Amino acid sequence: MTDSIELTQPDDWHLHLRDGPMLQTVVGHTANQFGRAMVMPNLIPPATTCQQLLDYRQRILAALPDDSQFNPIMALYLTDQLNEAEIREAASNPHIGAVKLYPAGATTNSDSGVSDLQAIYPILELMEKHGLPLLVHGEVTDSAVDIFDREAVFIDRHLIPIINKFSALRVVLEHVTTADGIEFVQQARDGIAGTLTAHHLLLNRNHLLVGGIHPHHYCLPVLKRETHRQALVKAATSGNPRFFAGTDSAPHPKTEKESACGCAGIYTAHAAVELYTEAFDNVGALDKLEGFLSHYGADFYRLPRNTEQITLRRTPTQIEQQFGQGNETVVPLRAGGNRQWLLADSDSNLVNRS
Ligand code: NCD
Ligand code: ZN
Repeated sequence: MTDSIELTQPDDWHLHLRDGPMLQTVVGHTANQFGRAMVMPNLIPPATTCQQLLDYRQRILAALPDDSQFNPIMALYLTDQLNEAEIREAASNPHIGAVKLYPAGATTNSDSGVSDLQAIYPILELMEKHGLPLLVHGEVTDSAVDIFDREAVFIDRHLIPIINKFSALRVVLEHVTTADGIEFVQQARDGIAGTLTAHHLLLNRNHLLVGGIHPHHYCLPVLKRETHRQALVKAATSGNPRFFAGTDSAPHPKTEKESACGCAGIYTAHAAVELYTEAFDNVGALDKLEGFLSHYGADFYRLPRNTEQITLRRTPTQIEQQFGQGNETVVPLRAGGNRQWLLADSDSNLVNRS
């Protein structure tokens, strides 16, 4: 049995850091583990211009110790107002990596998203021209579509037409949760990838609904049945470079999760690399972990792979019950339970683990 593994430092290609006190609470967890992260722009109000994104990036860096090497790469929030000057600037600025499409109303802070996908076709054409990747929250918001089917319907109704029409546009289907999504990514043309979260690799919908409702396991896209989870694990551990890590770690205050209408988002940043490691270890695929965590995402974004190394040891360790204080308390995935693997302190982005 392997008890220790060394990897190139990973990157997280889908992350929510929030702002203000919540940002202060969570950012160190990601910076402790990852070299880079693609930071989502669904703030209130959302970051819809390059200037807003770059200001936000400064606030992220200011929340870290001066010697931190963590490099946040920002995703611009797509609205039908996005113009060519912004797209050109986003494409040429190394701190901006992509544009994020939220169908309006699909998830947390997506009200300013896109309600008519055809209306943004001119913007997609400009992104294709300037080489700026599109990140997609792939769920329809049509109230007639069952929530468990929303990913598959989005692919058929919207994503396939988009990738056919814009044949050079690079597209990431984010947080793939179904066998349908996996099949789409596997069979699509070049330039299409999918991110997978640690929680969708480890949990199915029973973890949300059996024995009572578990609000800290509620996220969007919602957890699916076990056969879908198995399809995700198979894809992640297949060595196919189209699949790479994006945690979608999405902190919310405990009070807003444990509520009559609890909001969507699972917090995994505290142990993201360790949880992915566990998911791979569970199926005997630790040899495929480094590509998925540390190589394929960088390759997709045409960035150099990280050069630092991290070490993980098989050391069951209890996870904290919560992080932060007062109104900003966050309950992490598996609070009070054990993680199976532990990241040895890496030598790059470290900040105090306390
Ligand atoms: C995310 C959030 O809270 O910002 N929530 C979630 O359940 N994943 C938004 C998102 O990525 O859908
Ligand atoms: Zn997200």
